[in-house]
Amino acid sequence: METLPIGIFDSGLGGLTVAREVARALPHERIVYFGDTARCPYGPRDLTEVRRFVLEIGTWLERAPVKLIVIACNTATAAGLMLAQKAFDVPVIGVVEPGARAAVRATVNRSVGVIGTIGTIESGAYSRAARALDAGVTVFSVATPKFVDVVEAGLRMGPGALEEWVAESSEVFIRPSFYEMARGYLEPLKRSGIDTLVLGCTHFPLLQAAIQQVVGPRIRLISSAEETAREVVETLESRGHLVRGSGTPGAGHRFCTTGDPAEFARLGSRVLRERITAAERVGLEELATLVSHDRLMLLREGTEDAVCG
Ligand code: DGL
Repeated sequence: METLPIGIFDSGLGGLTVAREVARALPHERIVYFGDTARCPYGPRDLTEVRRFVLEIGTWLERAPVKLIVIACNTATAAGLMLAQKAFDVPVIGVVEPGARAAVRATVNRSVGVIGTIGTIESGAYSRAARALDAGVTVFSVATPKFVDVVEAGLRMGPGALEEWVAESSEVFIRPSFYEMARGYLEPLKRSGIDTLVLGCTHFPLLQAAIQQVVGPRIRLISSAEETAREVVETLESRGHLVRGSGTPGAGHRFCTTGDPAEFARLGSRVLRERITAAERVGLEELATLVSHDRLMLLREGTEDAVCG
């Protein structure tokens, strides 16, 4: 079992911010990363649809095979973590609980903000996770769906002259108009007195410097990637499934996408901060045929599972 890779998936490229932390924490482990870029974004979709995607990709990873699955997408975690934990035999880790834990640990005045996709924020998963850890914490949430588009466009450096773009960090280019839009989303959160802000979407660490500039230095930004990586280490360790000996760091990773493999490799290399030499394409038709009838039946079970990330 320990020689099997770790499976990580997201709606697209954002989950690579989690993959890079897992790779940093466990340099001798192999990773199979699955980016569902053909169906990105998940954020505005119905949670039941996202739950089906979780079953499809989880089944694909299970067959890869992998020894553990990380749902490196907040929306998919909020929609389908409990479902995935029920459906798959290998351990499944999401990103909501680790992010909430890091925020609860970091806040001093016990006022925490969360930004994420519409699906994540409307699910209430962060509020529940934070309050389960500390009932005295107040959580203020705002959906910032346009931030996902900003990251996607920034990675592709969408249409426009170069001088219309600002490189806020080495990770992603943004247009100057981003700041006005971001202020619209974030000013109410600032006014609510939060001292900690969770980047509740795996795309958002790529905008970290720009978001920090808008909220100011007094608000601490939390990305769940490091805490999630820690949970991966602990889970594998407790099961005796950590790789023994030392392979070559970074060797043997596999990258799969439902979109264009060449584009995934090019853009993914920027997010991962490591060159992805090749990505494989997995067809949506193939994914749709993988899930057994029994597993599809799980989708019919109580919808409360859908929001207990
Ligand atoms: N990476 C996804 C998340 O963490 C957001 C992108 C999407 O909407 O698919 O929620």
